[in-house]
Amino acid sequence: MVKGICTSEIIGYLKAEGKEQKELHKKACSVRDKNILSNVYFRGIIEFSNECDNDCFYCGIRKSNDKVKRYSMTKGEILNAVKECADYGSIVLQSGERRDKEFTDFVVDVVSSIKKLFPDIGITLCVGEQSREVYQKFFDARAHRYLLRIETSDEGHYSKLHPTEMSFENRKRCLIDLKEIGFQVGTGVMIGSPFQTVENLASDLEFFNDIDIDMVGMGPFISHEQAPLKESTDKSENLNLGLNMISALRLMMPDINIASTTALQAVHPYGRELGLMAGANVIMPLVTPKKYRRDYQLYDGKPCIDESAKDCLGCIVKRVKSTGLHPVFHEWGDSKHFFNRK
Ligand code: 5AD
Repeated sequence: MVKGICTSEIIGYLKAEGKEQKELHKKACSVRDKNILSNVYFRGIIEFSNECDNDCFYCGIRKSNDKVKRYSMTKGEILNAVKECADYGSIVLQSGERRDKEFTDFVVDVVSSIKKLFPDIGITLCVGEQSREVYQKFFDARAHRYLLRIETSDEGHYSKLHPTEMSFENRKRCLIDLKEIGFQVGTGVMIGSPFQTVENLASDLEFFNDIDIDMVGMGPFISHEQAPLKESTDKSENLNLGLNMISALRLMMPDINIASTTALQAVHPYGRELGLMAGANVIMPLVTPKKYRRDYQLYDGKPCIDESAKDCLGCIVKRVKSTGLHPVFHEWGDSKHFFNRK
C-alpha cells in the first residue's frame, strides 16, 4: 500500500482505457501542477560512447552485436556538444557500460572540465553499474544526478533479460550506493518487455516508492533487429501502458521528476507530448552530434537520428509549448523529492 493506493488499484490504473484513461491522466497532471508546478525541465542528452561490456538481451549496442560501428567521442567533442545545449541548463552524459579505469577516469575528467567551463550546467551521469569508489569519484567531480534503470523489479524477470554475469542484487546495490553518496538518483523500467506482466509493472512502481527514488525514466520496450529478445506486445498497447505508468507513478510519488522518454516518441509521433500530458515533467532532447546518432540505437526506429542538436532544440520547445506546459531554461530542475526526503 502506497499513499493509500493498493496494488489492485495500481493495476486498475495501468489497464485504464478511453474515458477512464483520460481522467487518470488529468488527475495525474493536477497532482503534478499542485506539487511541482507546470514546469518542464530539459536534459540535453549526449550519448558519448556506444562501447559496452554488457550483453543485455534487449539492447542494440550489446557487446556481441558486431554490426554496430563503435565510437567514443573525444573530450573536445563532448565539450562542444555541451556548449551547443547550454541553454537547457542540464545535461545527461550517457554511454554503454565500461568499468575499466581508462573509461572511468575519462568520465571524471570530462565532468570536471564541464564544471570548470560551464559552472552553471547541472550534470547527470548514466554510465551504468560501477563500484562505490568510482561513484564517489564521479560525485566529487560534481556530477549531482545519476540514472540507472533497474529494468524490472522482479529478480526472476531480470534474469530473463540479462546474461548470468549480470545480477539484480548488484544493480540494487548500485542504487543504494548512489543514494548514500548523495546523488539525486533516477531509475526506471522498460514497459512491455518480454515475459513482463501487468502485475510486474505494478510492483515496479511500488519498488520505486520503496527505495524512495528521486527521478524515474520509463519507456516502452522496442525490439532491435540484432538483439535476441523480440516484442511480445503491440506498439499502441505499450504506449497506453507507458502513459498509464507515468500517471499512476505521479499519483504515488507527487514530487519526483518523471521523464517523458524518447522511446515514447518511437511508438507514437506525439509520444513525448502525451507523456507530459500524463504527468511527466522532464524531457531529454538529443544533443549527440548527428554523425554518431545512427550508431547509438538501443532499439529500432529511434527518432531524431537525422536531426542536429539545433533542429532538436527548436522542435522540442514547440512540442512542450503545444501541451500548454511551461518550458524552463537555464535551470537544473532538480527533483523536489530529493530535498523533501532529506
Ligand atoms: N527498448 C526500449 N528501451 C531500451 N533500453 C535498452 N534497450 C531497449 C529497448 N530495446 C533502455 C534500457 C536502458 C536505457 C538506457 O535504454 O532501459 O537502461
